[in-house]
Amino acid sequence: MRAIEITAPGGPEVLQACERPAPVPKAGELLIAVQASGINRPDVLQRKGLYPMPPGVSDLPGLEIAGTVAGGSAEDLAVAGLALGDAVCALVAGGGYAEFCVAPAGQCLPVPRGLTMIEAASLPETCFTVWQNVFSIARLQAGETLLVQGGSSGIGVTAIQLAKALGAQVIVTAGSDAKCAACLAIGADHAINYRTQDFATEVKRITGGKGANVILDMVAGDYLGREFACAAEDGRIAVIAVQGGTASQIDAGLLLRKRLTLTGSTLRPRTVAYKTVIAQELKAQAWPLIESGRVKPVIHQVFAADKAAEAHALMESSTHVGKIVLSWV
Ligand SMILES: NC(=O)c1ccc[n+]([C@@H]2O[C@H](COP(=O)([O-])OP(=O)(O)OC[C@H]3O[C@@H](n4cnc5c(N)ncnc54)[C@H](OP(=O)(O)O)[C@@H]3O)[C@@H](O)[C@H]2O)c1
Repeated sequence: MRAIEITAPGGPEVLQACERPAPVPKAGELLIAVQASGINRPDVLQRKGLYPMPPGVSDLPGLEIAGTVAGGSAEDLAVAGLALGDAVCALVAGGGYAEFCVAPAGQCLPVPRGLTMIEAASLPETCFTVWQNVFSIARLQAGETLLVQGGSSGIGVTAIQLAKALGAQVIVTAGSDAKCAACLAIGADHAINYRTQDFATEVKRITGGKGANVILDMVAGDYLGREFACAAEDGRIAVIAVQGGTASQIDAGLLLRKRLTLTGSTLRPRTVAYKTVIAQELKAQAWPLIESGRVKPVIHQVFAADKAAEAHALMESSTHVGKIVLSWV
């Protein structure tokens, strides 16, 4: 099969097309003939040598795919509720930049009705991550306020739409006025240009002093202290990345007085059983929102798979809004 491999840690140019044997599904896995592979910022970290794959996982990058079911036992097909030839999208721990990929049956979901393979490939990583952090861990409720740092990211556009569809008010930050406008068009209620405004001051102003009930943070660093300042009482802050650095100064007095909860997580090393539960929740609660058009994939650009280096360069330029996807067909 054709695949894209990381030849050495480094810049986008280390992504090279190659030929590899197609993987063989083990018990518990389905084989997928891949038509599209989503790109995520963790792939960039892996390419740089900063995010090694978990033990036993393919060295090929790629955390999400869409295609058709090409193999798997009757038992595993039943677990996924799929048949050979069905359109499928899946969360994988690696190996997604390839024409064939194996995925745990419990992490496979049907392509939502009406979506293209490109759109379906853009869903798993952000839907699983947002669902886990915003809804399962931070328990965002209808009527509450969610602050999304990085609203125009792949993660951000998913968080905005799912939270709005489930009845929350959404405030985002983004690094330009154009990106703020894009977030508002996607459904955010308020967008703050973090380069020209202090988000903590703005969040307090927008919420009439109450603050945000849930904060999805992909920055950390000096953002954490400011998030403590603009979180509501009983606020929940879920950290999913440390783009602003790992050292933070927080006011522990605020932690106590506001009864804040601070959590952190990475999805990739979690067990198949854990991800299977998220998949089931997504299928029941998020997939109907996607099929009804209330939550829409936001595709910034599609690249032919052999242009993966260009796709990574685009992601690192941070000029995109939403998702970048590779096509194999
Ligand atoms: N923990 C997990 O399980 C998990 C899973 C998936 C992704 N992630 C992380 O989630 C983040 C988003 O992933 P993605 O694939 O959606 O990447 P992406 O589309 O490349 O988005 C990165 C975003 O970070 C924003 N950003 C950078 N510095 C910022 C700052 N100081 N303030 C506010 N926003 C800032 C950028 O906004 P501007 O361009 O406007 O500056 C951009 O929107 C990445 O850091 C990724 O590693 C974590």
